[in-house]
Amino acid sequence: MTNQWHDACATDDVDDEDLITMKLAGQTVAIYNTPEGFFATAGMCTHEDESLDGGLVMDGVIECPLHQGRFCVRTGKALSAPVVENLKTYELQVRDGRVWVKV
Ligand code: FES
Repeated sequence: MTNQWHDACATDDVDDEDLITMKLAGQTVAIYNTPEGFFATAGMCTHEDESLDGGLVMDGVIECPLHQGRFCVRTGKALSAPVVENLKTYELQVRDGRVWVKV
């Protein structure tokens, strides 16, 4: 199935240096608001399938709430133990105050 753009949320729905998670096309997606802009990744940690909702976002990095593994929100790259597998990332666009994600 080809990926499609989804109208995910309003830009105002995600606080600065925070994230929200939601289901889009059957996938759990995390949307981040950072000083560098908005980014989207898979919303479940690659370590033990924990939701990243409630994790800490700082300097473009999400810290998993369960074991504090860290990922780059821009690239999905796993940055610190215990996570070793990168997060999937999704294309994202901001249009007229709405956040669109390609899933
Ligand atoms: Fe995320 Fe363990 S479940 S670091």
